[in-house]
Amino acid sequence: MADKLILRALRGETLPTPPIWMMRQAGRYLPEYRATRAKAGDFLSLCYNPELAAEVTMQPIRRYGFDGAILFADILLVPQALGADLWFVTGEGPRLSTITGPEGLRKLKTKDDIHTTLSPIYDTVRILSETLPKDTTLIGFAGAPWTVATYMVAGRGTPDQGPAHLLKDTDRATFTALIDLITEATIEYLACQVEAGAEVVKLFDSWAGSLKGQDFEDFAVAPALRIIQALKARFPDLPVIAFPREAGDGYIGFHQKTGADCVAIDNSVSPQWAAANVQTAGCVQGNLASRHMVTGGQALVEETRHIVETFRNGPHIFNLGHGITPDADPENVALMVETVRAT
Ligand code: CP3
Repeated sequence: MADKLILRALRGETLPTPPIWMMRQAGRYLPEYRATRAKAGDFLSLCYNPELAAEVTMQPIRRYGFDGAILFADILLVPQALGADLWFVTGEGPRLSTITGPEGLRKLKTKDDIHTTLSPIYDTVRILSETLPKDTTLIGFAGAPWTVATYMVAGRGTPDQGPAHLLKDTDRATFTALIDLITEATIEYLACQVEAGAEVVKLFDSWAGSLKGQDFEDFAVAPALRIIQALKARFPDLPVIAFPREAGDGYIGFHQKTGADCVAIDNSVSPQWAAANVQTAGCVQGNLASRHMVTGGQALVEETRHIVETFRNGPHIFNLGHGITPDADPENVALMVETVRAT
């Protein structure tokens, strides 16, 4: 157990070669994923089918031998478990019922009601903890409250998270109550993933970059701190990765402020900046631009080497700066893994 590379990096060890996994590693760029998804029927049926969800989690591990396997599920299952309607429009993305004021919030369920919907996810984790290769780390995850709230308020992805900002700025009490409910549900959801066998958990705050000043402290930092403290109270050795995407200066001090063992870095900041300002506080994860998985070639090799070399003097987990896209070439992923392990 103690020898798994990702766990060693998360404990602060500087390794000669960084362990590697990839955001959205189980996804549409892989023909075997598309085949299993077709068998499941649709994306949500795949998420709630433990055997098939475990199968798609395993696919990139078989193909590339990543050091970590991320549970196959979605951050929007928590809103669904809280009573929001959720569906996916092919080619467009998620749609949910919206929450525009206190009456929308009142209709939601409580943190104790979520397991009826989410128990198949815990079964997926159990299957994976039995079937993954013994040197592969099993990573559970959830969306961070702000990011989940942006979808629950708007009912869809938005370019500027405008509807969530509007609710936050016009009815802060309702917005804060929504954040608190998601925070509490997320603690219970992640605790169940850990009990089922997740060895690490990651919090995805994909829209953290649109929070500034006190809002960043209140809605990105504070909920992450609350979740991490609650989980560590129950599981003292559990490592946590936080991903406040596009936080910019907000990355500085994020380890200390939230208690995260690792901060994942997107590719809007340079590895030099992140090494000097963030890695000094603990493990970092990142940050190759996903487009290299589409374009490949010498640029991929050079940028991969540059990232490995720049983070070499501290704890580092190699990853992309955001999820791999469906138009990526599976051969480029193999080239990235090969380059990381040869640098
Ligand atoms: O392999 C993995 O990374 C694990 C599974 C995973 C998925 N989504 C599967 C998925 C994880 C960790 C997520 C996180 C997630 N989901 C985030 C945070 C990370 C990020 O990308 O910023 C967000 C914002 C979501 C919400 C979500 N799910 C959106 C906006 C979409 C549509 C956009 C898209 O890429 O199609 C999804 C769908 C989704 N989640 C897919 C996958 C593999 C594609 C669905 C399909 O098969 O059609």
